[in-house]
Amino acid sequence: MNPLNHVAIIMDGNGRWGIKNKNSRNAGHRAGLNTVEKIIKETIKQKIKFLTLYAFSTENWKRPKKEINYLFNLLENFLINRIEELHKQNIRLKIIGIKSFSNNLNKLLSSSERKTSKNTKLQINLALNYGSKFELLNAFKNLQKSKGKISEKNLKKYLQTKDIPDPDLLIRTGNTKRLSNFLLWQLAYSEIHFEKKLWPDFNEKDYNKIIKNYRSIKRNFGNI
Ligand code: FPP
Repeated sequence: MNPLNHVAIIMDGNGRWGIKNKNSRNAGHRAGLNTVEKIIKETIKQKIKFLTLYAFSTENWKRPKKEINYLFNLLENFLINRIEELHKQNIRLKIIGIKSFSNNLNKLLSSSERKTSKNTKLQINLALNYGSKFELLNAFKNLQKSKGKISEKNLKKYLQTKDIPDPDLLIRTGNTKRLSNFLLWQLAYSEIHFEKKLWPDFNEKDYNKIIKNYRSIKRNFGNI
């Protein structure tokens, strides 16, 4: 049975779900947050140690301001209301991406990271204003500056995920098959599941089915 240490998720389909069910993309994001809560619970149940959620990409800034504001309000309220509870559950929150939001949100993100930094049950990596190409370019630039030898091991030291094992499994919901500038280096050997359901419709049962299948496959990492 394959060990499962790290699941990464591209939570796609909120907008379509919102339009279809409530005639509002933002309603889809609100519903998507419920799925986030369900999946966190199930990840703990499954004893998985790392969960990385792609919440906002560097490309998402192209969206209408109203939607962007809604998303960040949702995130801010989520942290204000839930960080204490997450902390009590021994969950660590880490942000990957560039924290260049409002002062309030930047502070809230940093204080949430600090507060939970010693927690050990589950680490949630929230990818916010994250873009993999930017992360890689930055890492190469810093490695060059350090005059270190160009090697996988040295490059990894400059990635935002330097203390996080690579994902074993990537799930993308929303019936779309692409990586959207997400963890391009780190996903080199991950198993990938493309899920038809939209993120707000995705549930524990779907998640467990994917995990069960992942555990049963043969991973050979280029070997035979
Ligand atoms: C992609 O769906 C989803 C996002 C860009 C945002 C993800 C946000 C959440 C799940 C809720 C907030 C989460 C936290 C942790 C507070 P899309 O809008 O691109 O969907 P579409 O492809 O149907 O348009």
